[in-house]
Amino acid sequence: GLRKSLHKDCIARKEPAECLFPKEIIKNIATPVFLLHSAYDFWQIQNILIPEGSDPYHYWQKCRLDIHNCNATQVEILQGYRRSLLKALKEFQKNKEGGMFISSCFIHCQAWMTETWHAPTSPRINNKTIAESVGDWYFNRNASKKIDCPFLCNPTCYHVNFTHG
Ligand SMILES: *[C@@H]1O[C@H](CO)[C@@H](O)[C@H](O)[C@H]1NC(C)=O
Ligand SMILES: *[C@@H]1O[C@H](CO)[C@@H](O)[C@H](O)[C@H]1NC(C)=O
Ligand SMILES: *[C@@H]1O[C@H](CO)[C@@H](O)[C@H](O)[C@H]1NC(C)=O
Repeated sequence: GLRKSLHKDCIARKEPAECLFPKEIIKNIATPVFLLHSAYDFWQIQNILIPEGSDPYHYWQKCRLDIHNCNATQVEILQGYRRSLLKALKEFQKNKEGGMFISSCFIHCQAWMTETWHAPTSPRINNKTIAESVGDWYFNRNASKKIDCPFLCNPTCYHVNFTHG
């Protein structure tokens, strides 16, 4: 019964189920949008890319809890995941009114925590915190489409470590 709530332009060109996902929804949003996301979002990695049930021998257990524990093979898989995100963002890149901050931190929901939003130690891309980047976009101070370099290159990143419980 959800089909009728989805955008008709999307339904016309795609499988309706796909129209539920941000990748498609964003194409039909007229309001300027700022995308704040991590290319290694821990919730996605733990629940979508490698849910526990798909890893019965716990090969990914250490990596899922702390990105620093991922071995070279696992990091390469995470890089592939990041590349597919960046590919999906290609079209949005051309959106003149859009903004984005795609970090490379093992994090989720970066906007509500001072530690990640705007603090002296917050993650930065081109030396700007998330708050400064959103401000540049919101107040039309400067174009603000930032994509971080791949893990492990950004020393300002805040990576959540779940092994500490
Ligand atoms: C990384 O760990 C996985 C799962 O244990 C294993 O299959 C793979 O060979 C390892 N890769 C390296 C480079 O050690
Ligand atoms: C980075 O930004 C801070 C203020 O947010 C500034 O004090 C510092 O000089 C900047 N560093 C560089 C290398 O631009
Ligand atoms: C504006 O954005 C450009 C390109 O991202 C950057 O090189 C420049 O330093 C920014 N200027 C300010 C004042 O933030």
